[in-house]
This record gives sequence, C-alpha cells and structure tokens, in this order.
Amino acid sequence: MHLRLLLCGVCCLLTVGGALKHHILTKSWDEAQSDCLEYLRIESSRAKPYISHQYEDDQTTKELLFCILLNLRVYQATQNVPRVELMRQFFTPDAGDTMHVNRTNECLRRVQIPLKENSSCGKPYLGAIESANGMFRCFYYYYGNLNRSAVELLPTMLERQQIQQECAKIVGIPEGLLRCGSHLKNHPLYSNFSHCVMLRSGSSTMALDENLRNSLNVIKA
Ligand SMILES: *[C@@H]1O[C@H](CO)[C@@H](O)[C@H](O)[C@H]1NC(C)=O
Ligand SMILES: *[C@@H]1O[C@H](CO)[C@@H](O)[C@H](O)[C@H]1NC(C)=O
Ligand SMILES: *[C@@H]1O[C@H](CO)[C@@H](O)[C@H](O)[C@H]1NC(C)=O
Ligand SMILES: *[C@@H]1O[C@H](CO)[C@@H](O)[C@H](O)[C@H]1NC(C)=O
Repeated sequence: MHLRLLLCGVCCLLTVGGALKHHILTKSWDEAQSDCLEYLRIESSRAKPYISHQYEDDQTTKELLFCILLNLRVYQATQNVPRVELMRQFFTPDAGDTMHVNRTNECLRRVQIPLKENSSCGKPYLGAIESANGMFRCFYYYYGNLNRSAVELLPTMLERQQIQQECAKIVGIPEGLLRCGSHLKNHPLYSNFSHCVMLRSGSSTMALDENLRNSLNVIKA
C-alpha cells in the first residue's frame, strides 16, 4: 500500500512536467555526464574540468564523452553510428549566428566513421570513440554553447523494437507483420499501431535511423 502511494506520487510529479507521459526518458547533458563519471569511476578530484565543460584531448576524456553520447542515445550502440541530428538538442547557438549549421557541417564531413572495429587486437571501440568524439567536438566548437536543459531521449533501436512489439499486442496486430513493412502498412489497424508507437516512443518516424547506417550525416539547415 505504501509502495503504491509512493509510486503514484512519483508519477504525479513526473506528469506535471510533461516528462515520462507515456514511456519517455528525459536527461540533460550534465545528468548524463554525472552518470558517466560514476560508471567510469572518475574521482571527483579529477572531475572539475568536466563540471565546467572543459574537455581535453586525452583518452579518459574521450571515453567519458563516448559514455555521455551513449547515455544520451546520440551514439547508436547497436549500429555503431552517431545520430547527428540528436546532438544539436544539447547545444544552443549564439543569437544572430547564421553560420553555425554550415560551420558544424563542414566539420562533420571530416569526421571518419570506422567501418570495422579492430576488436581482436588492442583496445576495442577505439574507432567508435574517435568518431563520437569528432562529432561532439564539431558541435562544441562550431555549433554553440552546451545547453543544460533536459531533453526527451529517443529510444534505442532495441527499445524501438520492444515498443513496436508491445504496440502490436496492444492494438491486436500479429507480431509477425512487424517484419513485413508493406503488409503492416496495409493492415486496417495500422494507424492505431503507429499512434501507439508514437505515444510510447515520442517520435512518429519509425524509420528514423535507417539512412544513418553507413555514413555520418550532416545536420539540416
Ligand atoms: C551554407 O551551406 C549551404 C550548402 O552547403 C549553402 O547553400 C549556403 O549558401 C551556405 N550559407 C551561407 C550563409 O554561407
Ligand atoms: C586495424 O589495425 C591494422 C593493423 O594494426 C591497421 O593497419 C588498420 O588501419 C586498422 N583499421 C582501423 C579501421 O583502425
Ligand atoms: C536550452 O534549450 C531550451 C530548449 O531547447 C531553450 O528553451 C533554452 O533557452 C536553452 N537555454 C540556453 C541557455 O540557451
Ligand atoms: C482504432 O482507432 C480507432 C480510431 O481511429 C478507434 O475507433 C478503434 O476503436 C481503434 N481500434 C482498436 C482495436 O484499438
């Protein structure tokens, strides 16, 4: 009984702010960073530069930034690609700066995406860490200032699959149809299904990640 009351209280608090209305997670840059300082066991004596958003080019800093981008779902772990459009939510351009997108894109075009990791020898994820850092630095130096507000995080690919399976069950579409796009779209309950997916994932585009598979995209003007 107490637990139920407590849970209810938490839900009410969260819905007031609009966050987690259905199943959506929100997080700010600083919250993600503070998680990652704990995950990576970086002592507080060494965390000072990070708290003031100073990021040197050493390996610890690179691993921290990689962790933050994974944590914020900006780096898509299952596909090993950064989702550049999501990165801009954490930065605010200076007022009147009309060139921030062009400058950022010019930088993004120079960031290498590793095709294959050298995982058998040496440290794994080196290529992923480098490309995630390259992307971060494009925004950090050319786009604008780090914004401290929390944003709604998009689900990962795995979570998206789970949401689709749950919504298929909720509206009564056979789960097998999820693997055949055109049949799914012609199903009479398709609009109910996509409505459910949109509410639970916070995004109407189910194929958001599809064209990001092989290359680092640039952001839209
Ligand atoms: C920004 O880049 C786009 C495409 O690369 C170009 O068409 C546009 O003129 C540039 N804008 C400015 C202000 O230079
Ligand atoms: C993998 O390692 C080999 C040998 O160390 C190196 O020549 C190659 O450039 C590496 N590939 C990548 C993608 O880092
Ligand atoms: C941060 O982003 C939010 C939402 O996008 C915006 O309302 C706010 O003005 C930004 N904060 C700063 C300091 O730019
Ligand atoms: C599907 O959505 C319509 C409204 O668009 C609603 O009337 C109907 O009850 C829904 N069906 C199911 C099975 O959820």
